[in-house]
Amino acid sequence: MIDSNKSFSIAVCLAVPDQHDKSMRLSQKLSIPLVSHDTDEYEFLLLYSADGLTLKHTGENGFEPIMVSFTSPTMTYRIKYGGGRSQALARAVGLKKGWQPTVIDATAGLGRDGFILACLGCHVHMLERSPILAALLEDALQRASGSEQLSEIIEKSMRFSETDSIDFLQKLQQEDYPDVIYLDPMYPERIKSSLVKKEMRILRGLAGNDKDAEELLTIALVRARNRVVVKRPRLAQTLGSRAPSHQIIGKTSRFDVYLI
Ligand SMILES: C[S@@+](CC[C@H](N)C(=O)[O-])C[C@H]1O[C@@H](n2cnc3c(N)ncnc32)[C@H](O)[C@@H]1O
Repeated sequence: MIDSNKSFSIAVCLAVPDQHDKSMRLSQKLSIPLVSHDTDEYEFLLLYSADGLTLKHTGENGFEPIMVSFTSPTMTYRIKYGGGRSQALARAVGLKKGWQPTVIDATAGLGRDGFILACLGCHVHMLERSPILAALLEDALQRASGSEQLSEIIEKSMRFSETDSIDFLQKLQQEDYPDVIYLDPMYPERIKSSLVKKEMRILRGLAGNDKDAEELLTIALVRARNRVVVKRPRLAQTLGSRAPSHQIIGKTSRFDVYLI
């Protein structure tokens, strides 16, 4: 059984013969068919290409294939020119010299924010409940840990668990409470579709609408030691009824910061 709220068809496609065993394991893990050739019989195909595990949309709507990569040009640009500790994400998390907080990224998605936080010096535990997104993320982490450039940061500063964060946080022992819990749930559906990137629309299709985001915030507020940070569309309502301690507002999104 994969994502309970999904409404699409998906299979693992055996693109490269020497990836047969891996592809079969993935199809068994996700309980989805394994097909031997490219086909539009399914809306999405997961395939191990030469670069890594890729999610391909088979329709003709211009969706680019999705692969998690910490060395993609976009990520490399964000690391180099994103503003370091003065970027909004770092300020929201409260980064300062000499403080290397432990962060639970409870909505890991494609792992971009989690990776940026790790690069800025945080110890990040990423949690993701969608088995498909988890598979893409795990593949990226595996590739990165085998690369000379990234192995150190992956080993020292990043962990990943495929789990529902509400369950995970409920069971967390006090000695394991993190300094920061970071939440970036799906944007509300009413946000103008032109503002929602195609990639996000695919993510929503795969992961659902995160309707329990308020419940996640409630448990996060009693598990974080220092703060909870929630990423929201710039003009969206806050999540839940508690007012944030402060907000960091960007062009299209903002960070609501709840100090503990
Ligand atoms: C908007 S995406 C996050 C994007 C991410 N910040 C990034 O940089 O790639 C939201 C993700 O949170 C995940 N998610 C939402 N609620 C969750 C929960 N309770 N437990 C685990 N994952 C959750 C969804 O499955 C989805 O993949």
